[in-house]
Amino acid sequence: MSEFNVAIIGATGAVGREMVKILEEREFPIKDLVLLASKRSLGETISFKKKALKVQELNTNSFKDIDIALFSAGSAVSMKFAPIAAKNGTIVIDNSSAFRMDSHVPLVVPEVNADDVKKHKGIIANPNCSTIQMVVALKPVLDEVGINRIIVSTYQAVSGTGKAAIDELEEQSSQILNNKKLTRKVYPHQIAFNILPHIDKFEINGYTKEEMKLIHETKKIFGNNKIKITATAVRVPVFYGHSESIYLETQKHISIKKLKNIYLKTNGIKLVDDIANYKYPLATMSEIYDDVMIGRLRKDLSESNGINMWIVANNLRKGAALNAVQIAELLI
Ligand code: A2P
Repeated sequence: MSEFNVAIIGATGAVGREMVKILEEREFPIKDLVLLASKRSLGETISFKKKALKVQELNTNSFKDIDIALFSAGSAVSMKFAPIAAKNGTIVIDNSSAFRMDSHVPLVVPEVNADDVKKHKGIIANPNCSTIQMVVALKPVLDEVGINRIIVSTYQAVSGTGKAAIDELEEQSSQILNNKKLTRKVYPHQIAFNILPHIDKFEINGYTKEEMKLIHETKKIFGNNKIKITATAVRVPVFYGHSESIYLETQKHISIKKLKNIYLKTNGIKLVDDIANYKYPLATMSEIYDDVMIGRLRKDLSESNGINMWIVANNLRKGAALNAVQIAELLI
């Protein structure tokens, strides 16, 4: 087969729209592209290869003749429809958290564990956005010297929550600057000109689900349960691009110079680390580059095997849509 019928579930959403763009940019061999969303989107069209494609309503018959389905419509939709699609013979690449920790479902970042794709039984999970960029940045370190411990703090853009959150940051910023009454629908607190140490639901252990995703998903993707990981996930008033401050303790010593040389040769990574010229990764740069950007690389002065770094990636692209399309490319 040289061309494939592909469906995008959640095509009208922030990630779904990126999926459409990326399939076109990367010239994915598509016979038919089917765009699916809820009833609310009936009548909408989305441009693909200069054609306006009509958005259709998702239903149980949507997967007839579909080879690959990219899901990004939330966990509830994936839980209900991904097994139906897989039963139909469609290969599902699911961007929600519904199946990520299922032992029968591979969780894949092509730069890190591409071979795991082969183990799929119809569903492949796309990891959480903050996990994807962290494992891409840390895999070369893991391979070279091993990692004992990771401490990560994230600074995540509102687009990770979806289109409604992008609208909320825009509206609140305008309301505050124009002395108007503040409205709030998506987050439990004002997000404009604020920082929320809270992403997703709280669990009984005091961590949020987002923090626990970073911990569990990283171990699964690395196939390593021994790495010690702790995380703090924070929402910041940025539209696009997740930033992360990562501290790691390696098993063996590695110099910063050697690590920089490794990063310079690694696919999917862009080293942006020239402090003399104020060059370091910025959230705004993620709208230009698809690579995971790494900078502020420095030794921990208090621990010989400790390393600090600052990483940034586009959460909608490498953190979601691009990673999903790269998985689809592995399949073909
Ligand atoms: P719709 O636009 O019709 O609501 P985001 O994460 O940016 O909010 O996007 C969520 C995506 O998931 C949208 O495309 C949305 O479609 C889609 N979606 C949400 N609920 C459903 C549903 N029950 N069935 C199909 N698509 C859904």
